[in-house]
Amino acid sequence: MALLPQLESLLDGEPDPVARMANMAALLHREMGFWWTGFYRVQDDGLVLGPFQGPVACTRIAFGRGVCGTAWKEQRTVVVPDVEQFPGHIACSSESRSEIVVPLWHQGKVAGVLDIDSRELDTFDEVDRRFLEKAAALVFGPQREIYLAAGCFWGAQKFFKLVEGVEFTEVGFCNGRVENPSYEQVYTDRTGHAECVHVRYNPEVVSLEELVRLYFQIIDPLSLNRQGEDVGTRYRTGIYYKDERDREVLSREFRREKEALGVEEMPVELLPLSCFYPADEYHQDYLDKHPDGYCHLPPAVFSLARERR
Ligand code: SME
Repeated sequence: MALLPQLESLLDGEPDPVARMANMAALLHREMGFWWTGFYRVQDDGLVLGPFQGPVACTRIAFGRGVCGTAWKEQRTVVVPDVEQFPGHIACSSESRSEIVVPLWHQGKVAGVLDIDSRELDTFDEVDRRFLEKAAALVFGPQREIYLAAGCFWGAQKFFKLVEGVEFTEVGFCNGRVENPSYEQVYTDRTGHAECVHVRYNPEVVSLEELVRLYFQIIDPLSLNRQGEDVGTRYRTGIYYKDERDREVLSREFRREKEALGVEEMPVELLPLSCFYPADEYHQDYLDKHPDGYCHLPPAVFSLARERR
């Protein structure tokens, strides 16, 4: 159907996001025959109706409310096969039966959503989801994410923040057994979490492959549960992905690294992300707030991140 190239050429040269949304809504609506196709934009603490095609709609939706507010809050695409089964669905029109809402990313944050309604039940499948995620990425640019455990997260966050194309980072605890652990709990090494950096990046500026190669330059991949002076399972190394599609690139890079090191095995985990809990504000951007604070990474590595072009 080659709708993506059509969308791309339609948007070419137009920098204004509302104008882009308007023409995207028009083209998607006409070509795909949806019942309602449109955008809501994040403004302050709510979503406000943006360009759309179809019948009149609700103008404001609160954070976490309805399908749109849920996609914003949970930062993921929400597919609803039957709107009557979705708790809290907001019925702008009684004719809508199924729905898909895709977040729009801008500089590491959800800046709006693309919302599509259908008059049939169960309209949107995995193929639609992927297509609409690609289409939605045309508004502000695409966004992907990865979780990197590289020992103490203070230095690792400072490092990845410097990489061009990284649009957002936060530190936290991943792949452990306790819900919402505190730093003190993780520090006991009994919760199973690793200190890790959640990185969101624009794949048109920096690829996953490049991020992984940088990652291997700041860790000792042969050291088990120890990076620098930091010892414990919470300082283990690992890369954790949310999207199965990343597995292939990651496996290839792990193989490459093992070959370069001349080893069969290395104690760096490569696993799906099973959970992630952001650490307290105190730990976020710690080395920006305390430039002379503790960092297990030697100062020279930061130029690797700065110089990557
Ligand atoms: N049903 C949406 C509200 C927007 S309209 O479908 C256009 C929701 O539950 O968020």
